Amino acid sequence: PQFKVGYLIGSLSSQSINRKLANALVKLAPSELTMTEISFKDLPIYNRDFDADYPQVARDFKQAIANVQAILFVTPEYNRSIPGGLKNAIDWASRPWGQNSFTRKPSAVIGASTGAIGTAVAQQSLRSVLSFCNSPQMNAPEAYIQFKPDLITDDGEVTVDSTRDFLRQYMADFGVFIERVHSVVPPLH
Ligand code: FNR
Repeated sequence: PQFKVGYLIGSLSSQSINRKLANALVKLAPSELTMTEISFKDLPIYNRDFDADYPQVARDFKQAIANVQAILFVTPEYNRSIPGGLKNAIDWASRPWGQNSFTRKPSAVIGASTGAIGTAVAQQSLRSVLSFCNSPQMNAPEAYIQFKPDLITDDGEVTVDSTRDFLRQYMADFGVFIERVHSVVPPLH
């Protein structure tokens, strides 16, 4: 079967190494996965006063998640957690109460950092959030990418063979995971 996957890039930087990683993952994804970026850069900062009447930008964001069958988070680590902008986006998607966009929607997390632990601590933090949001997460393989200069070109060519093979397998495994989740209990929205 064919599945649509939306990916969120945790960094808004024009030079983002996580955007390069996402570009590589799009190229390496198996043919049954159609990859689309879901942008969150224009969302205001969430508070519950919005719940009565979400602004159009937030409705569009939730609709973009509803349009895909799985979510891939490609994120840097900021101060041992995820960037605030990404957390804000997740908070928007999780509300209004009863309309949590993540309910039973399968997800996977991956990230690149310049430091040696490769976003491991941020990913743990993100996994706690996604657990609460009732998103079934791919537990394995994990992927902690330490970004060395030129590891991935701007348009997503991976220059190291072993890393390219690893990322291709990661996406293949995500495809298998998505199919399994959808065959057991599909997402609510
Ligand atoms: C960082 N960086 C960083 N790296 C890390 O491994 N652990 C961390 O906790 C942090 N914290 C952190 C906070 C802030 C505010 C910034 C700007 C950076 C370094 C980070 O890995 C590096 O800047 C990456 O290039 C960020 O990813 P993007 O934006 O290039 O995708």
